[in-house]
Amino acid sequence: MKRIAILISGGGSNMVRLVETMLAEGYAAPVLVGSNDPAAAGLARARDLGVTTVAVDHKPFGKDRAAFEAELLRPILAAEPDILCLAGFMRVLTPDFVRRFEGRMLNIHPSLLPKYPGLHTHQRALEAGDTEAGCTVHEVTPVLDDGPILGQGRVPVLPDDSAETLAARVLKREHQLYPAVLRRYVRGDRSPVLL
Ligand code: GAR
Repeated sequence: MKRIAILISGGGSNMVRLVETMLAEGYAAPVLVGSNDPAAAGLARARDLGVTTVAVDHKPFGKDRAAFEAELLRPILAAEPDILCLAGFMRVLTPDFVRRFEGRMLNIHPSLLPKYPGLHTHQRALEAGDTEAGCTVHEVTPVLDDGPILGQGRVPVLPDDSAETLAARVLKREHQLYPAVLRRYVRGDRSPVLL
């Protein structure tokens, strides 16, 4: 069975969905949840689900991304994951780190890529007058929010939406999309999931 490590920075709701579906269906094994923020609420949620966690605070490393990543890499390698899933992990990874997991690292992004890479995706969709928004799961390459698209989930933008209401609607779609993509990906199926 494929071994899955997941990196988070916050609440970890996507991580919870991934872990819950893996445990319920047995399509893969969650072996580690890691965070750059020791206070990330998702760490306790992962432990409650019986998953080993690790936190490596990025702040003491300042601008030295390579040193932070070296510290984070140790427990990840020890867990021997086949696939690394970024799920609300808010640190940009260096090309060296990304290359180590080339072809086996996924990310979920809250926009319909290639639209709106980076931050504030929902606000940007509203400002552009978009009538639909959504989320994308893609393979991670050294270019931020780039890489082969493995699935997209769409939602309508409603007339009264704020960035917050739109984000909440997109997040529900994320919770469906990420497990749907990972289920296929562990079998080597990279055909895009469209929700
Ligand atoms: C999700 O909306 C995810 O797409 C986004 O952060 C949120 C994390 O929520 N990721 C990014 O913006 C990555 N650049 P969660 O912690 O509840 O899964």
